Amino acid sequence: MSNKILILFAHPLLEKSRIHKALIRRARNVMGVHVHDLYEHYPIFNIDIHFEQKQLLKYDLIIWQHPVYWYSIPPLLKQWIDMVLEFGWAYGKDGNKLQDKYLMQVFSSGGPMHVYTETGRNKRPLREYMYCHEQTASLCKMEYLPPFVIHGTHLLRDEQIEQEAINYERILHQLVNSAIDMEELKSMLYINDWEPKIKK
Ligand SMILES: Cc1cc2nc3c(=O)[nH]c(=O)nc-3n(C[C@H](O)[C@H](O)[C@H](O)COP(=O)(O)O)c2cc1C
Repeated sequence: MSNKILILFAHPLLEKSRIHKALIRRARNVMGVHVHDLYEHYPIFNIDIHFEQKQLLKYDLIIWQHPVYWYSIPPLLKQWIDMVLEFGWAYGKDGNKLQDKYLMQVFSSGGPMHVYTETGRNKRPLREYMYCHEQTASLCKMEYLPPFVIHGTHLLRDEQIEQEAINYERILHQLVNSAIDMEELKSMLYINDWEPKIKK
C-alpha cells in the first residue's frame, strides 16, 4: 500500500529562503508527492476553496510546510485553514471529508534547539507552539504526525542544509511507501528522530 502526499507550501519570502528552497527541490524528486505552492497560486490571498477541497480528497497525507514566523505559521497558510476547512465539510456534523487522513507539519526556526527547551529562552519545544494545529487535525478527525523540524537555520552551512534536505527526501519516500510504522512514529516528538526501519 502507498500513500499519496500533498505538500501545501507557504513561504512569504521564498526569494530569500535557504532552507525551504532546498527542501522543496528535494521533495519534488519524490514520486507520489505533489507540491502546491500557496504563495505562487494565491499572491493576493484569493484562495479557490472548491479547488483546494477537491484536491485534498485525492491525498492520504497532507503536509503544511513553512518557516516559523513569530512562533506561528505564515498568514496565507492561516487563511487557507480558515477558508478551506469549512464547517460541515472538514468538521462538525457530517464534516468527515478529511477523516483518517494524516496531517504533518514541516517547519524551520531561526532559534536553535536549545532555546526551545524548558530551561531555554522560549521555554518549550517548538512543537508545543504548534499545538493548535494538532488540535485542528483532531477536530477534523485526522491523525497528526510528529513534525519534521530544522532548528537554528541562520547557523547552518550549505552542506548541512543539503543533508537536511536529503533526510527530508528519504522520509518522504518512506511515508509514500508506507515503510514507517505510524503507531510507533506517533510516540516521537519529531519525525527527525525516526530511525530508518523497514516494516516487516
Ligand atoms: C518575520 C519573521 C519572523 C520570524 N519569527 C521567528 C520565530 O518566532 N522563531 C524563530 O525561531 N525564528 C523566527 N524567524 C526565523 C525564520 O524561521 C527562519 O529564518 C526560517 O525558518 C529560515 O528558512 P528559509 O531559509 O527557508 O527562509 C523569523 C523570521 C522572519 C523573517
